[in-house]
Amino acid sequence: MSVRILIVDDEDIVIRSCKRIIAAATPASGGFDGAACKVDAAQSGAEALRLIEQQPYDLVVLDIMMPKMDGLEVLQQVKERHPDIDVIMVTGLSQITTAVKAMKLGAFDYLPKPFDPEELQRVVQRALEHRRLLSESDPAESASNARYHFENIVGAGPAMQAVFRLIAKCAPTNSTVLVTGESGTGKEMIARAVHFNSLRKDHPFVTVDCNTLSENLLESELFGHVKGAFTGAVATKRGMFEIANEGTLFLDEFGNIPLTTQAKLLRVIQQREFRPVGATAVQTTNVRLVAATNKDLKAMVAEGHFREDLYYRVNVFPIHAPPLRERREDIPALAFHFLKRVCGELGKPMAEISDGAMSVLTHYDWPGNVRELENVMQRAVILASDNVIRQSNLSSIVEMAAPAGVDVPRTSEDLKLAKKIAREKSVEDIERQFILETLKRNGSNVTRSAEETGMQRTNFQALMKKYGIRVRDTGADGAESDEPGDEVAPT
Ligand SMILES: Nc1ncnc2c1ncn2[C@@H]1O[C@H](COP(=O)(O)OP(=O)(O)OP(=O)(O)O)[C@@H](O)[C@H]1O
Ligand SMILES: [Mg+2]
Repeated sequence: MSVRILIVDDEDIVIRSCKRIIAAATPASGGFDGAACKVDAAQSGAEALRLIEQQPYDLVVLDIMMPKMDGLEVLQQVKERHPDIDVIMVTGLSQITTAVKAMKLGAFDYLPKPFDPEELQRVVQRALEHRRLLSESDPAESASNARYHFENIVGAGPAMQAVFRLIAKCAPTNSTVLVTGESGTGKEMIARAVHFNSLRKDHPFVTVDCNTLSENLLESELFGHVKGAFTGAVATKRGMFEIANEGTLFLDEFGNIPLTTQAKLLRVIQQREFRPVGATAVQTTNVRLVAATNKDLKAMVAEGHFREDLYYRVNVFPIHAPPLRERREDIPALAFHFLKRVCGELGKPMAEISDGAMSVLTHYDWPGNVRELENVMQRAVILASDNVIRQSNLSSIVEMAAPAGVDVPRTSEDLKLAKKIAREKSVEDIERQFILETLKRNGSNVTRSAEETGMQRTNFQALMKKYGIRVRDTGADGAESDEPGDEVAPT
């Protein structure tokens, strides 16, 4: 099947070089076969939109800077009418703002100009791979679980693309999968993706958290028990190995399984049969195991805390979920992903993220990984008073991100952006201090504070709102609000 690619750029020379680079790709060099791609070109946004209406394209490589209709506008129209076409934006500005805007509008990725031939080949390859995984995982129904669960995982960057490839590779097999990674990196999400992209997807996906249960409870949870097997076993209980039959059993926090249970588990894996607690007969089971852990199982084996034989039985197909700080390129898309969800849940219009705030997000180290980012975005949406997320709404991480945030710029564009961010941050700091100090001097009385500064009361209040500052005020001001934020206690 040939791949159709459309190149949109107002400069003929760029079009020709892109065509050449794509045609030159081989499975060995670019990862895809350039000769099998049919490449068209358009020199304006209008022409591109016309071509896209006439024939189906898989991929559009789109320049942002074009006269008349700029790339962002074209992107928006393409995504509105054909959401399944992947669009790669070429930005001449190497600016995070424009690129982020493009990602928000649904671009697959962006490529700063000037780029090397290999860079273009790589991003095209990733887009094609992404499409292949999506289409292969659900040959028949487009709205199946499989598709849904894959598309919910954000990760256009190379690290997560590698994970996607592994998922796609192992999902259709019956192989046991071991997902490793720090907490909050998306291990459970990967486990689900394995199941929902497998032939077992219409059978149950059952989770057992090996962490929270005592040894006895864990065994009865896994294998079930018969009535009277132990005190408290008032009725027969089916184990998860039975419930998950034909489906996938997800053993979360696998590194915390006690040694005696490990021995029993090994037997199930080897013989595909188990005995419920207190039962005499064995039951057979056909489950696929996916295990996840944030522990270093190999080290545990060396220390004697984990059975080596079980380790090798489970570590058949390892998938490592990389920490977020090692895939910072995914942060903007993840931030918008959570922003969209939180705003939707709260019934708020989609919020914006200021350049300064985005810089903090991309420079912070995220010890709690994606889960922490999710929580920070949730808090920020609640704190943001004018629908723009600013540095001041990220107070929990802003200090820690700051040292990394002052990267020395390398190009004049980076310098411009860094100056803009620094200015924005110092203006915010000063405004915030100004409001806080004035309120303090005036016993949290908003009217008096406004008078002292020579500002209109409404303007003063607007600034308070911008920074989420409220006063615990019982006076005549009525400035009390329920919004969370910094509080100025009356003196
Ligand atoms: N790539 C991603 N795209 C979108 N959401 C993600 C992604 N990775 C993780 N999440 C979200 O982050 C949260 C944490 O993910 P998950 O529970 O899978 O992590 P985990 O590694 O199992 O964490 P823990 O070790 O704490 O159990 C979830 O709400 C999940 O939906
Ligand atoms: Mg988990």
